[in-house]
Amino acid sequence: MSLKIHPDAITALKDFSLPEQIGFGSTISPVMMNCEYKDGKWGELEMVPYGPITLSPTCKVLHYAQEIFEGLKAYRVMGKGPFLFRHLENCKRFNHSAARMAIPELPEEIFMEAVEAITAYSADFIPRESGSSLYIRPFIIATEENLGIKPSEKFSFMVIASPSASYFASGSLKVLIERNAARAFTGGTGTAKTGGNYAASLLTSVKAVELGYMNTLWLDGENRKYIEEMSGMNFFAVVNDVLVTPKLTDTILAGITRDSLITLAKNLNIPLKEETINIDSLIESIKIGECTEAFACGTAAIITPVELLGEEDGTTYELKYPIGPISKSLKENLLAIQEGRMEGPMGWIKTIEPATY
Ligand code: COI
Repeated sequence: MSLKIHPDAITALKDFSLPEQIGFGSTISPVMMNCEYKDGKWGELEMVPYGPITLSPTCKVLHYAQEIFEGLKAYRVMGKGPFLFRHLENCKRFNHSAARMAIPELPEEIFMEAVEAITAYSADFIPRESGSSLYIRPFIIATEENLGIKPSEKFSFMVIASPSASYFASGSLKVLIERNAARAFTGGTGTAKTGGNYAASLLTSVKAVELGYMNTLWLDGENRKYIEEMSGMNFFAVVNDVLVTPKLTDTILAGITRDSLITLAKNLNIPLKEETINIDSLIESIKIGECTEAFACGTAAIITPVELLGEEDGTTYELKYPIGPISKSLKENLLAIQEGRMEGPMGWIKTIEPATY
């Protein structure tokens, strides 16, 4: 494929400089990728200046939420790289989400070229500190202008990128166990990375903050008994020195960080179980000191320790360690691979040549 480049995109790149404080997801690379679907096929991929897009108020995405997204990172710590981490896995999950949301499959070469090109052209703006990265956000929205409730026949695929520091400013999380609302149900959209799943978590996030928590632990929709995931992250705990994580179901998003940690745990000889985890049994094992560590993991969060789980009535269950030895070792190993300081399993890292312009 050949990438079309809008002349204003080069001007935008030349005029851009990183602000001193970048935060997470608020400083945006001056270019973005765009590809349109109409008449039954995807068109040409183009790099354009980053900026507002024009949508008709009748576009289906605005009413029926027909959309999907991904999150992935490129690293350039101490000027090495940029290194993209397992982006083919993001491409596969993107098309899994597309299938669930009645969005036409995006050819792998368009996804890969878009992600690699935005990394190459943003290379100068990728922060160099460990834990920082270029957070890349591919997405597809339904753009057909029509209020009928049926799948759109027009879509926009776009990729934007954000030079970012760590997602969580604080080092560890206080997590509310949500015993009433649910995020996903069997047969629903829980395994798709689609905005509606995140929108469904927002009301609880407001309640959590009011109660002094920072994130939510979601239980299964049917029984509210079994741990599923956190908001935008997967969940792990260490019980009797065994790493445990909920086994994937049709209501849990299959995290690429989750999958990477399972591989790393095996390589590091850390005993591991993917199983159904009953929330009340986990609480009991925290109380009696068998569960010593818990953490959230995801592309944005990497590994963020959970310092306590708690209820709406204020009862809390504190973990033994602020960051336990297993969480620490997994985090150090994962980051060392992502940042190109240590060799990882085959195919996890692709080095991208910075673009000249
Ligand atoms: C990611 O880790 O990429 C996520 O999707 C979490 C996010 C919603 C910030």
